[in-house]
Amino acid sequence: MQCSWKSMVLLALASIAIQYTAIRTFSSNPLSFLCSVGLAPSGLTVNCSPKELMQVGQETPVDLDHSCDRSPSHANSSPSLSNPSYNVTKRTHILILATTRSGSSFVGQLFNQHPEVFYLFEPLYHVQLALLPRLAQSRNLAERRVMLGAARDLLRSLYHCNLHSLESYIQPRPARHSTDKLFRRGASRSLCSPPVCEAPLGSKEQVLVLADEGECVRKCGPLNVSVAAEVCRAKRHAAIKTVRIPQVSDLRALIEDPRLNLKVVQLVRDPRGILASRIETFRDTYRLWRLWRATGRRPHNLDLGQINTVCEDFLRSVSVGLARPTWLKGRYMLLRYEDLARFPLQKTKELYSFLGLVLDHNVVDWIINNTRGSSGLSSWQKFTTVRDSAANAENWRVKLSFDMVVYTQTVCQPLLGLLGYKTIFHPRELRNLSHSLVEDRTFLPFF
Ligand SMILES: *[C@@H]1O[C@H](CO)[C@@H](O)[C@H](O)[C@H]1NC(C)=O
Ligand SMILES: *[C@@H]1O[C@H](CO)[C@@H](O)[C@H](O)[C@H]1NC(C)=O
Ligand SMILES: *[C@@H]1O[C@H](CO)[C@@H](O)[C@H](O)[C@H]1NC(C)=O
Ligand SMILES: *[C@@H]1O[C@H](CO)[C@@H](O)[C@H](O)[C@H]1NC(C)=O
Repeated sequence: MQCSWKSMVLLALASIAIQYTAIRTFSSNPLSFLCSVGLAPSGLTVNCSPKELMQVGQETPVDLDHSCDRSPSHANSSPSLSNPSYNVTKRTHILILATTRSGSSFVGQLFNQHPEVFYLFEPLYHVQLALLPRLAQSRNLAERRVMLGAARDLLRSLYHCNLHSLESYIQPRPARHSTDKLFRRGASRSLCSPPVCEAPLGSKEQVLVLADEGECVRKCGPLNVSVAAEVCRAKRHAAIKTVRIPQVSDLRALIEDPRLNLKVVQLVRDPRGILASRIETFRDTYRLWRLWRATGRRPHNLDLGQINTVCEDFLRSVSVGLARPTWLKGRYMLLRYEDLARFPLQKTKELYSFLGLVLDHNVVDWIINNTRGSSGLSSWQKFTTVRDSAANAENWRVKLSFDMVVYTQTVCQPLLGLLGYKTIFHPRELRNLSHSLVEDRTFLPFF
């Protein structure tokens, strides 16, 4: 056993295209690293249902967005396939580094709605699934390294629009570069618009009704990966959202690659808010937390690692980011979910300014439509947190018991201080929503 773990570490360090087949030979002890980075505690038993594995990376259990939306103005901006060559030096690659239930779907939309950005939603889902044929039993450093090596390798390929490299992780293996099994394809607008999807999408009125991802999958047919790759090359920029990379230092090799021009947006959220949201979403994994809330007594076998991991990963990653090492110069921005919820447009402008991208009016329209000021679009209620602004970003305060909050604060104390989330000491402070627990802080990008 020792010997094969060493081999795995070496394999990871070599960081050469780690293939699924190579990994399988080591998998007598199933690779774990899950039910997700951020959910699985080190050294503790992880218990994820397949449904929850699916939900990892998904901000809402309901179907998302209107990715198939193709308003007439977008038709003109569909990429020209006659000119597949692109200016590599000008191309910006964006990574949204997040954890489950931290608002990453919303941040993803800020790029998905931009006509010049090729956006992929959680492609590392396939790496996780392929390297973990059986559900996770344990978690250790070697496994984590192998997974991260494969993840980095795939990210690099995807940014270079080599989408075929994703195929080796998709089950069943796509035939003739065609698949209907891409995870959450409908969340990516590029994959639901011409020329990748040639389905007739109807008039503008009908487009507005296309609010769920399933519509894209049903109407567009199997995904032709080769055509998707051409579209990726034709777009100016590429953005990928992931909840499967724990810390920014895990990306150092990519960030230091000048050919890649990678910029990382680390999205953070008050861990008390993440906890409250996960308890609602991952009902099996967080069953004991619900029990605690219902009975008022902490179950003795409560999985403490679930919240520890979030806070440890955030703390290490943000500490690195805020320490401003030279390798992160111009490449790292910290974004608090609560700030985005309160000032969506202003924060989005700062985000685009950091990335050096021009903010497109489609993005602005989308923000206006999906935050305060919009009404009557019930299918978009998934973003209510943002629409109802600050009050809802803090609605964990009516969802968690005082004991649960105190426990979480104890575990996450250094992180709360670092990110400017106020600790509470009395139930009265917890429920008094007129008093925000988010300190005003400015985290300037490191230029
Ligand atoms: C590519 O972009 C760089 C940086 O803006 C510019 O200096 C260069 O001339 C461009 N090359 C081409 C072929 O457009
Ligand atoms: C995918 O698209 C390519 C390029 O247009 C085409 O040559 C190929 O036949 C298509 N594959 C399938 C399975 O339709
Ligand atoms: C915003 O809403 C308006 C009116 O409902 C609609 O015409 C427009 O296409 C929407 N824009 C975006 C980007 O969602
Ligand atoms: C709630 O907080 C506000 C602002 O800190 C304070 O003025 C008010 O007295 C508090 N209300 C209660 C019921 O404690």
